[in-house]
Parts: sequence; structure tokens; C-alpha cells
Amino acid sequence: MFQLFVLLTFVAAFPPSFAVSSDLDAVVVVFRHGDRTPVSPYPNDPYKNRSYWPVDWGMLTNVGKLRHYNLGQYFRQRYVDFLPRLYSEKDIYVRSTDVDRTLMSAQANLAGLYPPVGTDVWKDNLAWQPIPIHSIPENMDAVLAAKKPCPLYDIYLQDLFKSEYFWKVNRLNHDLYAYLSRYSGRTVSTLKSLEYLYNTLFIEASNNFTLPNWTNTVYPKKMQPWAALSFATATFNEKLARLKSGPFFNELITYFKNRTDTPKGAQYYSPKFLMYSAHDTTVANLLNSMGAFEYHCPPYTATIIFELHKPSQGSPYLNIFYKNTSEALPVKLETCDINCDFQSFQKIMAPITISVAEWKSECNSVIAQKIAYFAMFVVLFFMVISIVLFATIAMKNRRRPVQLLYTQLPGEYN
Ligand SMILES: *[C@@H]1O[C@H](CO)[C@@H](O)[C@H](O)[C@H]1NC(C)=O
Ligand SMILES: *[C@@H]1O[C@H](CO)[C@@H](O)[C@H](O)[C@H]1NC(C)=O
Ligand SMILES: *[C@@H]1O[C@H](CO)[C@@H](O)[C@H](O)[C@H]1NC(C)=O
Ligand SMILES: *[C@@H]1O[C@H](CO)[C@@H](O)[C@H](O)[C@H]1NC(C)=O
Ligand SMILES: *[C@@H]1O[C@H](CO)[C@@H](O)[C@H](O)[C@H]1NC(C)=O
Repeated sequence: MFQLFVLLTFVAAFPPSFAVSSDLDAVVVVFRHGDRTPVSPYPNDPYKNRSYWPVDWGMLTNVGKLRHYNLGQYFRQRYVDFLPRLYSEKDIYVRSTDVDRTLMSAQANLAGLYPPVGTDVWKDNLAWQPIPIHSIPENMDAVLAAKKPCPLYDIYLQDLFKSEYFWKVNRLNHDLYAYLSRYSGRTVSTLKSLEYLYNTLFIEASNNFTLPNWTNTVYPKKMQPWAALSFATATFNEKLARLKSGPFFNELITYFKNRTDTPKGAQYYSPKFLMYSAHDTTVANLLNSMGAFEYHCPPYTATIIFELHKPSQGSPYLNIFYKNTSEALPVKLETCDINCDFQSFQKIMAPITISVAEWKSECNSVIAQKIAYFAMFVVLFFMVISIVLFATIAMKNRRRPVQLLYTQLPGEYN
């Protein structure tokens, strides 16, 4: 109730409007891709035949392309006085996770944001122009995909699942897991596997497929809160948030610092608009890491917007928005004003902000530790062997001089 009241207060304080104040200096958007097909239908799925679907598993559908195109148009309207209509690599930098649906979503979005005008028109009757989208393989990406392996993170996550809270969650869901496993034909034993199944049912229901009768008692009502909770687990505490979202916040803050520290009219200016194309997990992780995640499944094209303002008087500040419906609603961090002073923002995020270099060494500290233990073991092992050998030789050597004495003094006992 209180949350609703606070939310309504924000809505009143920020009447829906595209007007963006003239002291806007930089914008960063992070969004989820558009509508897709199920990533992997369950074994008993009546719709597991590929012929039910227009595109292959986990791919962006036409509805998804259109939804992102519309979001691109929304950005164009919102930033009409901020982002020039002519494309320039000096204005915008786009990065996507290395997944087909996020790359395609970014492309559809940019088609809506940058329909060619004037000198950008390059082919008659084609309202599209090529715009670069940058990406690196997911298993090398610690910043956006956040899928670069991190052994320490895996240990923290295992610790979380052993905690009393999650032990209770799993015990509470024991019957539900068993029911879902039996009818779906796939083992459901964690929140994550429950969420995968929930997501598949959601997609089928949204496509107006009749769900099998067994789902009636569990979908959506019973499964929904657990699917929503599963989006909070990856960043459930500060240790997890730091290793999952820390490199992103480091990049964000470094970028905004660069913008605030660069004098107006400087020759080199980093782009004023950064676009990140990613996943529901990305959106949930970033919100949760800021302490601003109300448990839910981030819908298609759900977007976090960071706007940096550089007023002529006073210090730079941030406005943060979350657009998971038609309106972008302000996100208020618990310990910051709605106009969140940039310094305060840095302080609030400091406990989880971490450079990629630090991240790497922290993540692998477990491995370093294991190697150290192994090395110690090896050293000890050889020490023990040496001592035993030495002792054996020493004992032999002690006897030999006695024997020599004997031979040297043969007539002693004579
Ligand atoms: C999938 O559907 C197609 C077209 O209806 C059909 O030819 C095919 O046999 C089906 N495959 C399976 C495994 O049921
Ligand atoms: C599903 O049905 C609803 C209501 O009839 C309709 O508005 C919607 O367009 C349909 N969706 C699809 C994907 O066919
Ligand atoms: C499933 O439910 C529908 C109506 O809700 C009913 O007509 C149908 O017979 C049921 N099927 C089974 C296998 O129980
Ligand atoms: C901002 O970033 C650009 C590009 O990396 C760099 O050339 C410039 O020196 C930076 N400016 C500041 C003030 O950090
Ligand atoms: C949208 O976001 C708000 C605020 O985080 C959340 O309470 C709500 O459940 C979300 N709704 C949808 C449809 O995603």
C-alpha cells in the first residue's frame, strides 16, 4: 500500500511527457529483447513441434521486431531535441549481447530511432540505414551478458541456495515441483527451472495456444510469484550483486564521469547516448542491484533509462526510469532523491562497483587459492619424501662406518 502511494506520488511529480530538460547531457538505456519463441519446449509440450512456430526456438518474432521498432520511435520522440536526427557515431554507441534475438532487437530499435533523413537517405523507398552494433562472445563478456565464468560467484550462489531462506522456498515448493516435473516431463527442482517452464507457458498462452488441462491449477497464479522471485536470486545479496552487476555499474559510472569531467566544447566527447541490448535477467539484475526491483518477470522491451543532467548551477544528477509498460516510471533509490546527485549515486553503488580487472582477480581468487593449496600439498609431500629418504640414507650411513671400523680393525676381537 505504501509502495503504491509512493509510486503514485512519483507519477504525479513526473507527468507523462516527452519534454526532456535542456540540461540533459547523456543517456544510457538497457533493454530486454522483443517477443520470441520458447527457448526450449518441455518434453510433453503439445506445441513442441517446430511447425507451430514461425521462427526457430528462442528467435525474435515479427511481433518482437515491431515492439522494438516502436520502442526506437519512442526514444526518437523522447529525445527529439537531444539526439540529432542524422546518424553519427559520435552521438550513439550500441552494444548487444552476442545472441541473435538481442542483436536483431537492437537493429529493429535503431530502425525506429534513426529512419534516414536528408543526407542519410541512401536508397529510394528504404526507410532504414545500417548502424553498427558491437558485441563480444558471451563467455568473454563480464559487463553486459555477465556470463564470463566466475568461480567465486558460483560458490556464493551455492551458499545462497544452502541458506535457510532458499531451503524453505524449495521445501514450500516440494509438491509444486513434483507436479510440474510429472506433467511437463522435465525435472523442475529449482526456481530457475520453474521460471523456464513458466516462460514457455506464458509464450504459448500469449500466442493463443490452448494450454493442456494440467496447467489450469498452477498457471499462471501459483507459478507466477516463484518465477518472479527467481529473477532476484542472481543478485540476492551484495556479494552476488557485486560479481554479477558490478562491472556494468563500473562502466556506467566511468562513462558518466567522463561526461561530467569533459569540458563543454572539448574536441573529443564520448557519445551522448549508449544503448545496451540484453535480456530479462539483465534488467532484473541491474534493478535489484540498485535495490529497486519489485519482483516480477521483466516483459519484452522492458527498459531501464539513466539520464545524466548537467545543470549550469549545481552538481550533475541522475534520473532513472523503468519503462516496462507504455510509460517510463521514475525509479527512486532508497537513499537518494528522485534527482539523484551523481556523487551520491556513486557512493550508493560503491559497495558493488568493481572494475573488470578487479572482478577478474576476485573471481579467480578461488582458483588461485586452490592452486596455492595444491602447491603447498606438493611441497609438503616432497618434504616428507625427502625426510624419509634422508633418514633412510642417514641410517644406512650410520651403520656403514661401523662396518668399516670392523674391517679396519679386523684383529680387534682376535
Ligand atoms: C511436426 O509437424 C509436421 C507438419 O505438421 C509433421 O509433418 C511432422 O511429422 C511433425 N513432427 C513430429 C515429430 O511430430
Ligand atoms: C490472441 O487473441 C487475442 C484475443 O482474441 C487477440 O487480440 C490477439 O491478437 C491474439 N494473439 C495472437 C498472437 O494471435
Ligand atoms: C480439458 O478441459 C476441457 C475444458 O476445459 C475439456 O473439454 C476437456 O475434455 C479436458 N480434457 C481432458 C483430457 O481432461
Ligand atoms: C572521455 O573518454 C574519451 C574516450 O575514451 C577520452 O578520449 C577522454 O579523454 C575522456 N575524458 C575524460 C575527461 O575522462
Ligand atoms: C512493471 O514494473 C513495476 C515496477 O518495478 C512492477 O511493480 C510491475 O509489476 C511491472 N509490471 C510489469 C507488467 O512488468
